[in-house]
Amino acid sequence: MADNPTATTETTGLNEAVKDALDNAPTTHAHLLAWVREMAELTQPDRIHWVDGSEAEWTQLTDELVDAGTFVRLDEEKFPNSFAAFSDPEDVARVEERTFICTRTEKGAGPTNNWEDPEVMRGTLRKKFRGAMRGRTMYVIPFVMGHLEASRPSYGVEITDSAYVVCSMRIMATIGAPVLEKMTEQNGFFVECLHSLGAPLAPGEEDVPWPCNPSKYIVHFPEDRAIWSFGSGYGGNALLGKKCYALRIASAIAHDEGWLAEHMLILKVTNPEGKSRFIAGAFPSACGKTNFAMLEPTIEGWKAEMVGDDIAWIRFGKDGQARVTNPEAGLFGVAPGTGWPTNPNAMRAIARGNTIFTNVALTDDGGVWWEGMTEETPEHLTDWKGRDWTPESGRPAAHPNSRFCTPIKQVDILAPEYDDPEGVPLSAIVFGGRRKTTVPLVSQSFGWEHGVFQGATLSSETTAAAKGAVGVVRRDPMAMLPFIGYNANDYLEHWVEVGERIGEDEMPKVFYVNWFRRTPSGGFAWPGFGENSRVVKWIFDRLEGTAGGREAPIGTVPTREDLDLTGLDVSDEELEAALKVDVEEWRAELPSIDEWFHRLGHVPEPILEQRAGLEDRLNQA
Ligand code: GDP
Ligand code: PGA
Ligand code: MN
Ligand code: MN
Repeated sequence: MADNPTATTETTGLNEAVKDALDNAPTTHAHLLAWVREMAELTQPDRIHWVDGSEAEWTQLTDELVDAGTFVRLDEEKFPNSFAAFSDPEDVARVEERTFICTRTEKGAGPTNNWEDPEVMRGTLRKKFRGAMRGRTMYVIPFVMGHLEASRPSYGVEITDSAYVVCSMRIMATIGAPVLEKMTEQNGFFVECLHSLGAPLAPGEEDVPWPCNPSKYIVHFPEDRAIWSFGSGYGGNALLGKKCYALRIASAIAHDEGWLAEHMLILKVTNPEGKSRFIAGAFPSACGKTNFAMLEPTIEGWKAEMVGDDIAWIRFGKDGQARVTNPEAGLFGVAPGTGWPTNPNAMRAIARGNTIFTNVALTDDGGVWWEGMTEETPEHLTDWKGRDWTPESGRPAAHPNSRFCTPIKQVDILAPEYDDPEGVPLSAIVFGGRRKTTVPLVSQSFGWEHGVFQGATLSSETTAAAKGAVGVVRRDPMAMLPFIGYNANDYLEHWVEVGERIGEDEMPKVFYVNWFRRTPSGGFAWPGFGENSRVVKWIFDRLEGTAGGREAPIGTVPTREDLDLTGLDVSDEELEAALKVDVEEWRAELPSIDEWFHRLGHVPEPILEQRAGLEDRLNQA
């Protein structure tokens, strides 16, 4: 579908249904009313639906989505109140090439983001959005990221023409009438989030199950705290509370206000003595956050609970204590690889139902399947493209970036503190990525600035979570490369400055992990998943000052003796491969770090000093 052919002249006329919905709006929030009216005039929907977030509304919308062919209702016994959706084959992941940060100056967006002048971009987008909702319903979703009872609730309103987005937002955030009521009462500021599939319907034109537009724009105006997303229905592009607001816009707000909005899971760990600590982990998309957050320890007496699996807002109290909240209310997890042996907690959560699956395969008995879900592969499936599938088909049945979207409250290891509007005290930050070589199982940084250096140079092989080549090593600072809503140099400076302001002693300790290193024969060196609890134990005990380690040039690393390996089934060769710090491999990293820093252009001095320190230590080793 190209540009909307009728979008040549500005139309401001509104039909009776739309006028009526505006006149009888369930709010008196003047700015909201004005904005919705303006967007309705621009996009020309057939009707407006103020989303109240009720059960009845969910039932109505999911019924409509089933009728439209967007949703397949799953077997009520297996997955109650659950649905499978299948996207357009071209609309399966975030589109980083089409993601823009439109700050007033190009420098504001920095060297890693796509930039366009905000006025130019608004002009382009107004053309795209003009008439874009013809023949469709405009849904207005009031939402809050984080707690509605927070001292300053982080409100947003998403306008969308996708019922799939409404249903998914209902899982991922707190939405609807209670939010609108409080926002109206406080006359609260909200982030304007405009979304359209970009697929208007002419009178009588038949809809497709997954409308979208090949011309996609995921656009952020950080200074205005506004988001315009066009052409995609896929999660990260369309559920605007998530990546667009809670990471890109929030990171810009956090920079202005002195806190951190990060791409991190949050895990609560309790040792056998009953002491608990909270750990956050930044891994790039599809590198293990959700699994780590839902970890089932394999070692005696240790307990893990989940606070968050994707986004962490880290604020600092007057006492300097870092406190972290998860602003989301749901999980949007990678399906492939999620199974009873690897992630039983996720399997239990989705079995409770109320889940939207996207681009998974269907079993013949009304269930879902994906690679890695069960040890035995079903003999027959309907794949994510709706084709017959057998194990001989020679292609994955589920898309590698297929997802489950499920309420976080269904996770039975959810930590009770999840609901604390003030957040939980943060003891450690763990960086991690997917590296076949070089990066050992775990290391601890020598201090905050060294930790910031580790984060700034985090590297990972690319995954199917974003459109583009898979398996290419790229630098991904703090796993935030696609999500920093401003200049990456300023972002790194901000990390350094927060540490200076709060002071080394109060700051969380920094670790760097890699679950994905390979042995010379090609297999994973480390079994991962629940066995990662052994690494968690080492981290915990390092914080307590009771675990040993050896100083390597890259940080403090555990020897075999420092790790609890009781009952672990790994060979010497595997363990050696997992733990090894190879000086030559690391020396080979330096040119690629330099290249990365060159691309960044204005790397903060303390981080450059850390780079020099690493080289010195490697030379002495
Ligand atoms: P997220 O996108 O960062 O939340 O990553 P997920 O936790 O959803 O994991 C992405 C993929 O990596 C899934 O296919 C997982 O099965 C796989 N994965 C997660 N943790 C591990 C691990 O410890 N070892 C291995 N080998 N794979 C893992
Ligand atoms: P993920 O979240 O980090 O769980 O993959 C979605 C994304 O980052 O696109
Ligand atoms: Mn993510
Ligand atoms: Mn995840």
